[in-house]
Amino acid sequence: MTTKQLKTNAAPRQTEHVHESVRVLIPRERIKKRIKQLAHEIRRDFGDQPLHLVGVLKGAVFFLADLARQIPGEVSFDFIAVSSYGDEMHSSGQVRLTRDLDSSIEGKIVIVVEDILDTGMTMHYLLSIFQQRKPLHLRVAALLDKPERRITAVQADYVGFRIPNEFVVGYGLDYAERYRNLLDVGILTIGKAEKRKRKGSKK
Ligand code: IMP
Ligand code: MG
Repeated sequence: MTTKQLKTNAAPRQTEHVHESVRVLIPRERIKKRIKQLAHEIRRDFGDQPLHLVGVLKGAVFFLADLARQIPGEVSFDFIAVSSYGDEMHSSGQVRLTRDLDSSIEGKIVIVVEDILDTGMTMHYLLSIFQQRKPLHLRVAALLDKPERRITAVQADYVGFRIPNEFVVGYGLDYAERYRNLLDVGILTIGKAEKRKRKGSKK
């Protein structure tokens, strides 16, 4: 894993109170290569049957776009949106559906495509909803997996990268809606001035 500073298209915020920095954890070439492998693994598991990808907005958009284009044969996709975060870095544990699918998944081979499995609460919630809708098969593809943080028994069938317990941004993943446009996945560090300010404001 490289620790080089990120030189790319989203500038970390540096103000009097905020000192953010991002260093590359997974460079774009590794992401690309791994997605190609996952796409072929998925196709191999389902022969020539049509596959229906369900992307979880907004973090999974780039992963879904790249994955879908690497899977040979018939692929359709749809999107769902949930909100699960109390603040920018810590989940409230409550998951709420904010946008439902456009079409039925009954009888389809559904692959839920998610940016990251963290506590697993979001995926646990989504799987319980989708299971009721009677798909033929229901699988999970997650670009990133932080197994140390898991509080539910959820696992992904296809995992891009297992990562340590760090807050990551880029390639769709955000901090307060920023950094999604980074081409690499990087670890976000927030300077002391900002942390003190955030703690103080909660009291
Ligand atoms: P979970 O419900 O705790 O598994 O969280 C899943 C969601 O939290 C993901 O879809 C992300 O949007 C967000 N999330 C979890 N960890 C990170 C992270 O390290 N960076 C950015 N977003 C994260
Ligand atoms: Mg998010």
